[in-house]
Amino acid sequence: MNQFSPVVLRFDSLPSTNIEAARQASAGAAEGLCVVAAEQTAGRGRLQRHWASPKDAGLYFSIVLRPRIAQAAWPMLTLMAAVAVHDALLESCSLRTDIKWPNDILANEKKLCGILAETVETPAGRAVIVGIGVNLNKASLPLELAEIATSVAGETGTAADRELLLASLVRGLSRYYEQLKRPDGPETIVRAWCARSSFAAGKHVEISAGDEKFSGITRGLETDGSLMVETAGGELRKVRAGDVAALRTA
Ligand code: BTN
Repeated sequence: MNQFSPVVLRFDSLPSTNIEAARQASAGAAEGLCVVAAEQTAGRGRLQRHWASPKDAGLYFSIVLRPRIAQAAWPMLTLMAAVAVHDALLESCSLRTDIKWPNDILANEKKLCGILAETVETPAGRAVIVGIGVNLNKASLPLELAEIATSVAGETGTAADRELLLASLVRGLSRYYEQLKRPDGPETIVRAWCARSSFAAGKHVEISAGDEKFSGITRGLETDGSLMVETAGGELRKVRAGDVAALRTA
């Protein structure tokens, strides 16, 4: 199978592995180039948030992809990455996690990992940078996030082996990316995602999409990556982008 051959570039310190991967992509880097840093001084999260990235406290990782799949299927790239992270944590850290739509990895309902996909125009066409930040130990968690975030060491009681996790993650990304490119790729990835997520179906959630908030029960994922939610009035709504919070039922 025509899988990419991952090349891993390692740095002691970077502003952001996503920025460095985008720079490498613009300079012609092939698909599969991975950038890892021991610390990030300007780590980026979704919605312009900061991603705390103290030295050796987390896995700060980005990969360059040059997808030749329909642009409508690009949200599947973050779902595919979430599946790969889930499997890597299980394989290398014996930690079973949950995936919150679209792409947060949770352990005991707290955030353990975030994924940020960004596009960059390059001379060889548009590339996608998929950035992944995994909290490995407590030092990666700012005090104000203690209630809502967790780390691998906090969950397993043992220090995570960053190299093992990295190797497993790169293998998984390569495998699932190849699956995504097949004609039935989106269906395969949606099935894999749903099998690993308690948010896929039957979960009471509150959705925040722009200025709008509504609650309902999740009813599966579409093959473009959107989440179906049934409202109390019985309407089935398709959520393409937004934040999801689990609601506790009385
Ligand atoms: C989120 O907000 O949940 C996404 C966080 C993504 C953080 C990772 S860490 C490696 C890569 N480089 C960045 O600057 N951000 C991503």
